[in-house]
Amino acid sequence: MPVADQELVKRASEAAAMAYAPYSNFRVGAALRLKDGAIIAGNNQENASFPAGICAERTALHAAMSNHPVGVVDSIAVVVPQVKGDMPISPCGICRQALLEQETRQGSPMRVLLGTSEGTVIELAAAADLLPLHFDRSQLER
Ligand code: THU
Repeated sequence: MPVADQELVKRASEAAAMAYAPYSNFRVGAALRLKDGAIIAGNNQENASFPAGICAERTALHAAMSNHPVGVVDSIAVVVPQVKGDMPISPCGICRQALLEQETRQGSPMRVLLGTSEGTVIELAAAADLLPLHFDRSQLER
């Protein structure tokens, strides 16, 4: 795996350790790299009112785009270090939709790296690969 990807997976793993997940105890970390090299990480932030919680992927993505509104996400890594085995956790449906929105917005593919505690990584070339038959802005124009 390229050193840059290893670094991103490591940053996602470190972010998971700082998650606020007192209800599920399921700590997820995400880290993304912008084309300019900036790395932004995030984790899941839960709430006693459960639906108010937010996943790691969207925490990282929204933090990145809030501060870099014309940023282009080259890659995002997602890791749940506490899950054992070589099959990674994959993003929930809402996060897939959010990643796809960014991919549409930036007009170039966003690589998705799904890491495990064992070090294996599943790589997808684009967020769209996670969401077949997706709904995007082009549907609103039909
Ligand atoms: N979670 C994420 O952060 N990302 C996902 O893609 C799946 C789920 C979080 C949400 C919640 O805080 C906890 O994991 C259990 O669902």
